Amino acid sequence: MSVPDHDPAAPPDRLIVRGGSTLEGTIRIGGAKNSVLKLMAATLLAPGEYNLRNVPRITDVDLMSDLLRATGCSVSRSDDSLVISVPDEIEPVAPYEIVEQFRASIVVMGPMLARCGEARVALPGGDDFGPRPIDMHVRGLTELGAEFDTAHGYVHARASNLLGARVLLEFPSVGATENLLMASVRAKGTTMIDNAAREPEIADLCELLNKMGAQIVGAGSSTITIEGVDSAEALHAADHTVIGDRIEAATYLAAVGITGGEITVKGARHEHMVMLCQKLGEMGMRISPDADGIWALVPRRLSSADCSTLPYPGLATDFKPFLVSLLATTEGVGIVTENLFSGRFRYVDELRRMGADIRTDSHHAVVRGVPRLSGAPVRSHDIRAGAALVIAGMAAEGETVVADAGHIARGYDDIAAKLNGIGADIRPG
Ligand code: EPU
Repeated sequence: MSVPDHDPAAPPDRLIVRGGSTLEGTIRIGGAKNSVLKLMAATLLAPGEYNLRNVPRITDVDLMSDLLRATGCSVSRSDDSLVISVPDEIEPVAPYEIVEQFRASIVVMGPMLARCGEARVALPGGDDFGPRPIDMHVRGLTELGAEFDTAHGYVHARASNLLGARVLLEFPSVGATENLLMASVRAKGTTMIDNAAREPEIADLCELLNKMGAQIVGAGSSTITIEGVDSAEALHAADHTVIGDRIEAATYLAAVGITGGEITVKGARHEHMVMLCQKLGEMGMRISPDADGIWALVPRRLSSADCSTLPYPGLATDFKPFLVSLLATTEGVGIVTENLFSGRFRYVDELRRMGADIRTDSHHAVVRGVPRLSGAPVRSHDIRAGAALVIAGMAAEGETVVADAGHIARGYDDIAAKLNGIGADIRPG
């Protein structure tokens, strides 16, 4: 097993945000974290050289690169492309030292199982917002014929022959849908995933898999049908351009909602975030699709609105921290309901330290907008919470010091430089 070799330029541990500026100009989003990590996992399905383009420079991509290297692949970057060379034989093991650092690593299980007939994956760690089990992954793969046991902190999956089956997911889990997709492309016969996740990142994964020779229809809908290809030779390497990161786009749209101004988020696709744009419009933002992105104008303080998270195409749970920061500054009261992750309100305590008026009760938050937040030292607990604190700091009086900002770099390629490019004042500290 090779040893992780990243950390060329460690991300800053603190970001200092000076509030008060208005945002103006064009900001470009990178490739979607939640797509590229799965595309990288998919390469394990067939040997050859893959070229992924529009790959963001984020820590999670470095971690997934380390994971692929640990299986025997070589991974190198050139500008925004990642070249992955997958050998004829891979070692189907995802070691604890890497897996504990990011939960998305669980998606190597499906392709390893399909390619090697077994997978040994350390039980995942990941974000600090509540329990995130893998029972639906295990149940779905079991229906395809896999057998599981857990020992010494590892899940060991085995299947000498995967057989196509009809799998009904209890909940449209993104990760379970992805693992099932990648396993079933090599299963004998037809697999049908019902109540599948519909996220644009799932459709992106299916597009790469089909380029590799898979036969998948229905991606982006709740029923995905996969006709298994039963010989290893039927799958081959392919090139692919990663879709834009809708969650990064949402961060910048919420930021302009907080500071006021006029921005274009280049690379964002309106059709991937219709519900969010609708919600921001309801709050008073002028927002519309542009030739190559989304344009937004915030002429005055926005009004509050209620927000409730749901699987795609509903309002994404990943947008919620930004919406809570935004509602902390808008006029009126907004009730925010979290329906996906039980513990995803931890950052609210940090926002309160900045003068936000927020009460939480179980999976609800009542957010009363205040005219001005007040800069304070705060701590980032996960990627999105960290970004939400940065944008809240942009509306605050004085300086906000965001500690543990390394979390943000897991999903954002230099958020400070990008936001500074449209008028923010953020520096490493
Ligand atoms: N769940 C189970 N059992 C399972 C799988 C999921 O109970 O076997 C539960 C989870 O605990 C959670 C819900 O189902 O309550 C949804 O989980 P899902 O599997 O859909 O999420 P995920 O695949 O673990 C991805 C994103 C998250 C995003 C969620 C929901 C990646 C790498 N992560 O996670 O993104 O919040 O979907 O859309 O794709 C982020 O980018 O910061 C992030 C956390």
